[in-house]
Amino acid sequence: MQSSYNVLVVDDEESIRKLLKNELDSDDRVIHTAENAHRARQLLKKQQFDVIILDIRLPDADGLDLFAEFKVANQDVEIILITGHGDIDNAVEAMRMGVFDYITKPFKLDRLEVVIERAYQRVCLQRENKGLRHTQEAKTDWYNLIGRSAPIREIKFLIDKLTTSEVPVLITGESGAGKDVVARAIHHRGGRSCQPLIVKNCAMLHKEMVRSELFGHKKGAFTGATEEHEGLVSVAHKGTLFLDEIGDLPEDVQASLLRLLETKEYRRMGENKERRADVRFLFATNRDLAKAVEAGTFNEALFHRINVFNIHIPRLRERKEDLPLLVEHFLSLLANGRPAAAMPEKTMKRLLSYGWPGNVRELRNVLERALILSEGGAITENCLPKELLDSNTCKSDAPPMSLENMEREHIAYVLSIYAGNKQKAAQVLGIGRKTLYRKIQKYGLE
Ligand SMILES: Nc1ncnc2c1ncn2[C@@H]1O[C@H](COP(=O)(O)OP(=O)(O)OP(=O)(O)O)[C@@H](O)[C@H]1O
Ligand SMILES: [Mg+2]
Repeated sequence: MQSSYNVLVVDDEESIRKLLKNELDSDDRVIHTAENAHRARQLLKKQQFDVIILDIRLPDADGLDLFAEFKVANQDVEIILITGHGDIDNAVEAMRMGVFDYITKPFKLDRLEVVIERAYQRVCLQRENKGLRHTQEAKTDWYNLIGRSAPIREIKFLIDKLTTSEVPVLITGESGAGKDVVARAIHHRGGRSCQPLIVKNCAMLHKEMVRSELFGHKKGAFTGATEEHEGLVSVAHKGTLFLDEIGDLPEDVQASLLRLLETKEYRRMGENKERRADVRFLFATNRDLAKAVEAGTFNEALFHRINVFNIHIPRLRERKEDLPLLVEHFLSLLANGRPAAAMPEKTMKRLLSYGWPGNVRELRNVLERALILSEGGAITENCLPKELLDSNTCKSDAPPMSLENMEREHIAYVLSIYAGNKQKAAQVLGIGRKTLYRKIQKYGLE
């Protein structure tokens, strides 16, 4: 997937740095150099390296100490030591500590090149294994909840805390962000995983039928009730009931749901008998329920009852680290057992710089479409939808943008997400409404 790899040479001898830079830098290998430990640390903070070549004698650090430090901080990097003649003991010690190999000065360039290549191959192998382990783990333990960004790790942590608890959970996040995926993970990792998980989208229910769908009805309870109906609450007994789009639940049913949550009791339509149900509830919404409470369309007591434990899934653009993993996951899923399509770095860059208003669902759709267009080959930029390419601010071949242009594009982008709603856009941009108006005028964005 990666087209070139990065090598860092840490050596205080300028002639060596120059030599390696001039002779070993190529299309598929970029050589970076640092003259001391301090500079190397700075570079390592900024970017990831695949192979590090380290002089054992540096002006500001001992090579072996530095090796240990780098290895702890960057586990999937391989390190090659450059040693002088008198350093053989050190070199042996280094090999024991896990250095990939060592080269004694004066060295032959082609020998060093072979060692670098081998080190890089080992890095790739290790990463592949790690990736495999990661996907396996994701698939079996996390029920397809993919991601390793800080927010997803936090969500997984919370789900783990929930395995021994039965509190209702409210899952919030924009459409397509993964609320269903999180709900399923909660159920499958919890104590009720062997019992049914019943999923119902409240927005899809007929208003008049909601009560009967949820609580059931007796034969003859209303005109048209020719048969007895069990109701989802009873079907989910001992299991989990996941009510999606809970904000769409009609107001009269909200009160009955609140009673069920508080007392575990409910009544079927047309019956006076109290029934008991042992149900674990999960809820989801992409609406702001607190606002709905303020507006008087959502029962305040019910809101507090279901909002005991809230899991919020951030938008995909706020956790772009997850994108490459998700791409890999979907490509292998869509390949259906065949080898997954290749994703060149250029295409990946495009995906990374897009805003994903439709979140993970949109990503999946884009990849599905791209796969058809790529006809079994690599997924080139041409396979991506026009809107995605148009809205892309990071044109890979264009010179860098000025700050002013960037501001213009970013404001246009935010306005497009909120369909021109300036109040919302100003809020998100963190500027006053007046300032936003001024900028809109300045950049001709009306
Ligand atoms: N973290 C994730 N890992 C793997 N797949 C994901 C993840 N998040 C979302 N998806 C996938 O993206 C698609 C949309 O996710 P999901 O249905 O969970 O979104 P949602 O938040 O429930 O959206 P809506 O509000 O429209 O119901 C599904 O195909 C789902 O499998
Ligand atoms: Mg959903």
